[in-house]
Amino acid sequence: MSIKTIILAAGQGTRMRSSRPKVLHEIANKALLQHVYETSLALTDNTIFVVYGHGGEVVKQTLANLNVSWIEQKQQLGTGHAVQQAINYIENTDTVLILYGDVPLLKAQTLQNLLTLVSETSIALLTVELDDPTGYGRIVRDKNHAVLKIVEQKDANESELVIKEGNTGILALNGQRLKQWLARLSNNNAQNEYYLTDIIEMAVADGLIVNTTQALSQDEVLGVNNRSQLAHLERVYQLEQAENLMRLGVTLRDPQRIDVRGEFIELGQDIEVDVNVIFEGSNRIASHVKIGANCIIKNANIAEYVEILPNSIIDDASIGAYSRIGPFARLRPETTLAEHVHIGNFVEIKKSTVATGSKINHLSYIGDSEVGSKVNIGAGTITCNYDGVNKFKTVIGDGAFIGSDSQLVAPVVIGKNATIGAGSTITKDTPAEQLTLSRVKQVSVANWQRPQKQEK
Ligand code: UD1
Ligand code: CA
Repeated sequence: MSIKTIILAAGQGTRMRSSRPKVLHEIANKALLQHVYETSLALTDNTIFVVYGHGGEVVKQTLANLNVSWIEQKQQLGTGHAVQQAINYIENTDTVLILYGDVPLLKAQTLQNLLTLVSETSIALLTVELDDPTGYGRIVRDKNHAVLKIVEQKDANESELVIKEGNTGILALNGQRLKQWLARLSNNNAQNEYYLTDIIEMAVADGLIVNTTQALSQDEVLGVNNRSQLAHLERVYQLEQAENLMRLGVTLRDPQRIDVRGEFIELGQDIEVDVNVIFEGSNRIASHVKIGANCIIKNANIAEYVEILPNSIIDDASIGAYSRIGPFARLRPETTLAEHVHIGNFVEIKKSTVATGSKINHLSYIGDSEVGSKVNIGAGTITCNYDGVNKFKTVIGDGAFIGSDSQLVAPVVIGKNATIGAGSTITKDTPAEQLTLSRVKQVSVANWQRPQKQEK
């Protein structure tokens, strides 16, 4: 079965009150339209079209990486008119699948179920049972429960308005039939629009059967029309991610308070995640990793038994096994830590490697550096890597001990097992095994008197 999927995405989305086209609003950092696209990728022998309109150039540019054909609908004259724009791309033998770009959480399984119900003599229609069907087209059935037609809310009479079965807008049908019916659509209705839904009545008149099915959950077919619905679907999506993680063996202290905006390339077992942790991009997390509250973990590679304490930010960094990071640590891009490394509070590391067993425990900035193994970097140590124009490298040999509050002015090399006295400003390479310090000699003034306030 050759499938042509047409994703309708030309609507204005006025109720978003946004300068951004609606389908570019995001769930989990991914555009609504991209969610729909990725779901339809699960179907085999499928060619995807997107009908765009209002602000469409931005949509095309932003999502240029999607493997779809873009079709412009210059004026939004209705869902039927939108599908008409794609008509030249449809072969008679195709199965055409209609999706909405603003219904992001639809599952591939639901589409696969729907596609089992379509043939040359039957239409497959996805419907939804709603407590409050306001705004939806109603599915009108005869006394034998066969579908007769869809009536839009604004065209419905009183007996039709009480119908609780709504049209999701998602359907699949034969290409040749679709082309015939589209040619016959009129806009003679309450909204003066070309309704795609009118083809249902035509199909029934032509002797076709309308098969219906429903999604597993209502949230799958909910559309986004305003920011409140967007927020609702974000939560639905996140809870699904949380359930999935728990199924895979991750402990979540509170599945309601975790956000996954991206994917896990690798995920071990017995990972523990405390509240308010955000995962972004592509993460690899090995077994027995513990992540404390309020951490942001982005494009990270975290080996087993790593412990990340609360309020830490890991951004494009790799952390070796048994290392301990934070609380309040920040690892910036191109940071690679080996095993058993300790990074403590208020330490920022950028574009640096730190070898096995080294400790940078308090209030430091380490940038553009190569730190050896078993190095101890004292509190307040700063690598001065930047002269305002160029960046320079700091190399710290194995076993070096950097006294607190030192500045290492790059480019500079600290020798193996070198000791740097506290408070030093190091501007030249220091020899291995020796103590180096640069410090003004301490003096005491014996008869000095502190100024005194005069009594008035
Ligand atoms: C449509 C259905 C209704 C269904 C409801 C489900 C019709 C006539 N009505 O109504 O039965 O219950 O969806 O949400 O089909 N679009 C275009 N071009 C247009 C008009 C719409 O691309 O000219 C796109 C929109 O971007 C959106 C989708 O089609 O993704 C649905 O349009 P919308 O205006 O939301 O349709 P409803 O009136 O809600
Ligand atoms: Ca809608």
